[in-house]
Amino acid sequence: MRRALTWLGFVFGGLVALVMVAAGAVYGLSSLRMTKTYATQPATVAVPTDAEAIARGQHLAVAVGKCTDCHGQVLAGGIVIDDPAIGRIVASNLTKGKGGIGGQRSDADFVRAIRHGLKPDGTSVIFMPAQEFYHFSDADLGALIVYIKSVPPVDNELPAITVGPMMRALFLAGQVDLLPAELIDHAAPHPAAPEPGVTVAYGEYLAQTGGCLGCHGPGLSGGPVPGTPPSFPPARNITPAGRLGQWSEADFIRAMRTGIIPGGESIDEFMPWKSIGQLTDNELKAMWMYLQSVPPRPYGNR
Ligand code: HEC
Ligand code: HEC
Repeated sequence: MRRALTWLGFVFGGLVALVMVAAGAVYGLSSLRMTKTYATQPATVAVPTDAEAIARGQHLAVAVGKCTDCHGQVLAGGIVIDDPAIGRIVASNLTKGKGGIGGQRSDADFVRAIRHGLKPDGTSVIFMPAQEFYHFSDADLGALIVYIKSVPPVDNELPAITVGPMMRALFLAGQVDLLPAELIDHAAPHPAAPEPGVTVAYGEYLAQTGGCLGCHGPGLSGGPVPGTPPSFPPARNITPAGRLGQWSEADFIRAMRTGIIPGGESIDEFMPWKSIGQLTDNELKAMWMYLQSVPPRPYGNR
C-alpha cells in the first residue's frame, strides 16, 4: 500500500514537473518573440495640418479603422480584455494627457506604430491589427496621425499589458495574431492605394483596412474568430455563397446601419456594425461591390 502511494507520488510529481516544464517553454518561447526588435526605418509620410484632414482622420479612426472601438471615442485608451487566461490587453491612451503617449511620439513613431506595428524600442505592438492598417494610403495615414495629434489631452493612466498562458499557447500554436510586426513585410515597397470611389478596388481597400478579413477570414467565408472564447458568435460567410447572395445593396446598407438583416434577425454586437454603419453611402456601396466580386466559398473555409 505504502509502496503504491510512493509510486503514485512519483507519477504525480513527474506530471507536475512536466506541466511546469511545458508552461516554462510556452512562456519562454512566446517571450522570445515578444521581445524581438525590428530595425525598420519607415518611409516618411506627409502629415497635413488642415481641418479637412483632421475630419478625414476622425472618419477613418471611427468608421474605417475602428481605432475608437479599442482606444475609446476620445482616444484615451482603456482595457480591451481582462481575463486570467488571456491576459490584460490595454489599448494605449493616444492623447497628450497624463498616462498618454501622444506627447512622446513623433510623426515617424506614429507611422512605425500604425503601418509597421512597431513601438519606439523596435518591438512589436501587442494585439493591435497593424497588419490591416498597413494597407492605409500615405494620405489616409497622414490624416489619421493629424487627427490623433489634434484630440484634446485626457488624463488616463493605464496598467501595463500582460499576456496570459492561454493567449501565449494559442499564439505559439499559430491560432492568434498577437504580434502584428511578424505579419508585415517591412522591407517591401508600400502598395499603391486605389482612389476613393464606388469601385471594387476601393471596396477592397475599405475591407482590408477595416479588418473584415481578420474576423471573416482572408477568403471571407467565416467561421470561429481565432482567439475568441467559444461563447463568441462565429463570423458569417460573407461571400456570395452566404446569405449575402440573396441580399440587395439596400439590404446590405440597412444591415450595417441598423444591425438588422433581411428577415429581421439582429447582428451580434461583437460584429462592429455600429462603426461600419458610420461609413458613407458611397463607401458602403463600394464595399458591397467588392463583396459581390469575391469568389463564393463554402462556410468556414476562412
Ligand atoms: C483591436 C484593438 C485595437 C484597435 C482596433 C486599434 N488599436 Fe492601437 N493599440 C491597441 C493596443 C492593445 C495597443 C498597445 C500595444 C502595446 O503597447 O504593445 C495599441 C497601441 C497603439 C499606438 C501606440 C504604439 C506605441 O507607440 O506605443 C498607436 C499610435 C495606436 N495604437 C494607433 C491606433 C490607430 C491609429 C488605430 C486605428 C487605425 C488603432 N490603434 C486601432 C489596440 C488597438
Ligand atoms: C471583430 C470581428 C468582426 C469584424 C472586424 C467584422 N465582422 Fe462581420 N461579423 C462578425 C460576426 C461574429 C458576425 C456574425 C454575427 C451574428 O451571428 O450575429 C458577423 C456578421 C456579418 C454580416 C452579416 C452576415 C449574415 O449573413 O447575417 C455582415 C454582412 C458582415 N459581418 C460584414 C462585415 C464587413 C463588411 C466587415 C468589414 C468592414 C466586417 N463584417 C467586419 C465579426 C466581424
